[in-house]
Amino acid sequence: MPDARLAPVAGAPNVAPVDRLGRPLRDLRISVTDRCNFRCVYCMPKEVFGSDYQFLERKELLTFEEIARLARLFAGLGVEKVRLTGGEPLVRRNLEQLIEMLAAIPGLDLTLTTNGSLLTRKAAALKRAGLKRVTVSLDSLDDAVFMQMNDVDFPVSRVLDGIDAAAAAGLAPIKINMVVKRGLNDASIVPMARFFRERGHILRFIEYMDVGHTNGWRMDDVVSAREIVERIGQVMPLEPADPNYRGEVAERWRYRDGGGEIGVIASVTQAFCRDCTRMRVSTEGKLYTCLFATAGHDLRALLRGGASDAEIVREIGTIWSGRSDRYSEIRTAATAKLQKIEMSYIGG
Ligand code: GTP
Ligand code: 5AD
Ligand code: SF4
Ligand code: SF4
Repeated sequence: MPDARLAPVAGAPNVAPVDRLGRPLRDLRISVTDRCNFRCVYCMPKEVFGSDYQFLERKELLTFEEIARLARLFAGLGVEKVRLTGGEPLVRRNLEQLIEMLAAIPGLDLTLTTNGSLLTRKAAALKRAGLKRVTVSLDSLDDAVFMQMNDVDFPVSRVLDGIDAAAAAGLAPIKINMVVKRGLNDASIVPMARFFRERGHILRFIEYMDVGHTNGWRMDDVVSAREIVERIGQVMPLEPADPNYRGEVAERWRYRDGGGEIGVIASVTQAFCRDCTRMRVSTEGKLYTCLFATAGHDLRALLRGGASDAEIVREIGTIWSGRSDRYSEIRTAATAKLQKIEMSYIGG
């Protein structure tokens, strides 16, 4: 059945693809840089991402025009949400220009995930360019803990200033992502919940994952979503809330007294692959069908080799149709050790 929502591309099939497990393609995450001004211990440990680390060269990165063309073609295939990621997306120069180009694509939920460090300076321009909302990563309110995690001595107060700037600019709703690692920042769970409940932002707790192969992940480091909900619920009673949409990554919980909500992202203990509608494009234009993939498909070669829109659409559709990824559901101690791509390369 032709899908009426889809913008037709001449010569390409006007049908939204589904993958081998029956999942549609809805969500595109585009990494705009592999660089970051933080060195979070769970993502870009300094021993690996030191001063001699070779990041991608400028000519290897997709240009804004290439990214916007891809986004338009993906929208034609059924994508409804585009999230810009990194590394840290705001370190890419003139990102507002890209936002403006993407905002011109009708009907897209356009957002980005940032560490917040540059938001104070950039929030207003991002909003003007057409960004709808932001998700800010923050792992603790305690400077000593946060600095130990970002490993570049970045203070909490400057991230909070960035969050305030985003709120003032109208980038709403604001979501806060906190990765929880046992023994490192789990004592920050309740203080974070209390703080963001008062400010009306949606805090989401993320189980520490075995993404990449440099963070030395161990199951013992994971604090389960269940434990997180229990710990908060003991002080501020919670009740489950319905998902906002099918396949929402975060499981929602609301405060019983009506004081807002939190989310838990249980990608380790309660995998959500069954409804996974996400595709990811790396900074250099490789297409990945799973966060835990070990290899991608080279879209840049198509873009730079003169392929038509129809050819690119057909290629993406073929890759999606052949997809059967469900890494988090089949994770074992052995798969956790695979040579997977890094989170800083593919984004969250
Ligand atoms: P909303 O559009 O606000 O609902 O965002 P989202 O729920 O998609 O959240 P976000 O993009 O902020 O993702 C939050 C975190 O969830 C990421 O940083 C990852 O740690 C994790 N995550 C997101 N997508 C996936 C996925 O496909 N697989 C796994 N295993 N984890 C994911
Ligand atoms: N486990 C869970 N989440 C992670 N992120 C980065 N590395 C990991 C990991 N190992 C999160 C960041 C940010 C997003 C980009 O991904 O905290 O919110
Ligand atoms: Fe940078 Fe985000 Fe990775 Fe931290 S988690 S190093 S802020 S990309
Ligand atoms: Fe999707 Fe892969 Fe994450 Fe499962 S592990 S939810 S298939 S990206």
